[in-house]
Amino acid sequence: MHKRRSEDWALESGCYFLKNLYNLSDLSLEEILLILQEAEAFRHGATFEGAAGKIVANLFFEPSTRTHYSFQTAQLRLNCKILDFMPETSSMRKGETFYDTVKTFESFGIDLAIIRHSQNEYYNQLENLNIPFINAGDGTGNHPTQSLLDLMTIRQEFGHFDGLRVAIVGDIRHSRVAHTNIGIMQRLGMEVYTSGPEQLRDANDNYIDFDKAVRTMDVIMLLRVQHERHSERTQMYELSPQEYNRLYGMNHERLEMMKPGAIIMHPAPFNRGVELSDEVVECPQSRIFKQVQNGVFVRMAAIKRALGGF
Ligand code: CP
Repeated sequence: MHKRRSEDWALESGCYFLKNLYNLSDLSLEEILLILQEAEAFRHGATFEGAAGKIVANLFFEPSTRTHYSFQTAQLRLNCKILDFMPETSSMRKGETFYDTVKTFESFGIDLAIIRHSQNEYYNQLENLNIPFINAGDGTGNHPTQSLLDLMTIRQEFGHFDGLRVAIVGDIRHSRVAHTNIGIMQRLGMEVYTSGPEQLRDANDNYIDFDKAVRTMDVIMLLRVQHERHSERTQMYELSPQEYNRLYGMNHERLEMMKPGAIIMHPAPFNRGVELSDEVVECPQSRIFKQVQNGVFVRMAAIKRALGGF
């Protein structure tokens, strides 16, 4: 658990308007619904002049396509000025630490930092810095803007959250998307189940057989197997891509089994032929690229909030 809430930071720094976004468990449901409302407003063409000219640094210490460049698209739409940090060409190659790197950007006088890092709750190290942060993913912990865009996509589809049934399928143990979504979806009254290989599950999950999930869920949320986060122990139990696809992959046969009106989601990147077959990626039930579209609007809203717009 990190030591500080965004409100605390605002009070300590004497600034009552700037707000961090570390994880969704810090936010009330009212705040979360307000972010979604702002994101919908951006989808319908709203603007926010308060971000124009603000210097935003995108500090991605771990690879990213969707989060990094949808934040950048959001910043361009809001007329921010962008510093795009590349660790591999930075002084980190000379041994500079994560903290010293972020402190250096604070010293430049930036207005906001967007940070992704492989260490869980990396933001605890930054508690003395006086710029707002948006967490773009920490290790296996939190991915708040991904969950917000997932929620936006689900509400566009069903109009509500309460009572919806979702199965999150795959590498639950290593997924910050799963960990963030399970918490917020339960708070919003959704029935959340997990499925996938036993060695990739968390303790105390609400397990459901995958084929039963396919027949009964409103939302099937597939996850990538995160090989880069696996220990030797979990690697010992890994399935071949073909075996994974047979047991836990969405394919033609399982599309036929889905409940009418149910949708397929995936935070991406996805592995074609593993957790889903080629024909599933852009099938009528898939909302994968709708999720990517919504990512820009959610991130515009998160930036507006961080800069004191609401
Ligand atoms: N969904 C997601 O976080 O994708 P990236 O790793 O490409 O940002």
